[in-house]
Amino acid sequence: MATPILQVDELHKTYGRGATRFDALKGVNFEVREGESLAIVGKSGSGKSTLMHLLALLDRPSAGTVRVAGRDAGTLHGRELNRTRNRTFGFVFQQFFLTPGATVLENVILPLKIAGVGRAERKRRGLAALAQLELDDKARNKSSDLSGGQKQRVIIARALVNNPRVIFADEPTGNLDSATGAVVEDILFELNREQGITLIIVTHDEELAARCDRRIHMRDGLLVEERDELREEVAA
Ligand SMILES: Nc1ncnc2c1ncn2[C@@H]1O[C@H](COP(=O)(O)OP(=O)(O)OP(=O)(O)O)[C@@H](O)[C@H]1O
Ligand SMILES: [Mg+2]
Repeated sequence: MATPILQVDELHKTYGRGATRFDALKGVNFEVREGESLAIVGKSGSGKSTLMHLLALLDRPSAGTVRVAGRDAGTLHGRELNRTRNRTFGFVFQQFFLTPGATVLENVILPLKIAGVGRAERKRRGLAALAQLELDDKARNKSSDLSGGQKQRVIIARALVNNPRVIFADEPTGNLDSATGAVVEDILFELNREQGITLIIVTHDEELAARCDRRIHMRDGLLVEERDELREEVAA
């Protein structure tokens, strides 16, 4: 069987120390196969964003390992870590805002700039990503002038511009009305289906979670078995 794109083994994350010490992850184990779509669900504070940040190599675990395509991410540092993150992942996070005064194109090509891609190539790839999201006509507009749904599509274009193997999305439709949210959802699943990009989505939206191939349910820093999840639903 192919090596999973992501494997986590006994993942622990503790924040703070002393009175504010908090065990946000208490030993999480699972794998993500390349090309699948996975929803991470669970109550507020259960550790979903913490887990996502560790998977995406944006933060380090207190204990345990994250493997990316078989490679222990704990052995990656500095430039190599940045390059692995930048080449493998795209991010659709609400806290990774667009720079409002910059143009749409400037926002989209930011990951390419970080990766050291030359100017002409950046522009070509940025416009191609925008065209994919049907936003090439807005390339020169200020990001602040776009509608909410258009901004979210720009964020997806930026997540795509590096040809990532995995897109991480934390509440990708959270701030959007349902019709606009549905458009953004369809785009993500189309990328999954047609380009084989692995999707990892944190969501409170049950319908969105149900569209994913698989769901993992978090409770108090641990994964709950799918069976428990069903039992909870029956009891509710
Ligand atoms: N930097 C931090 N310092 C201290 N505690 C933190 C920190 N970040 C998160 N936590 C705590 O860890 C727990 C898990 O937080 P996390 O953000 O992963 O939850 P979540 O499942 O994403 O919740 P939500 O659905 O509200 O986004 C929470 O109790 C939170 O208060
Ligand atoms: Mg969160």
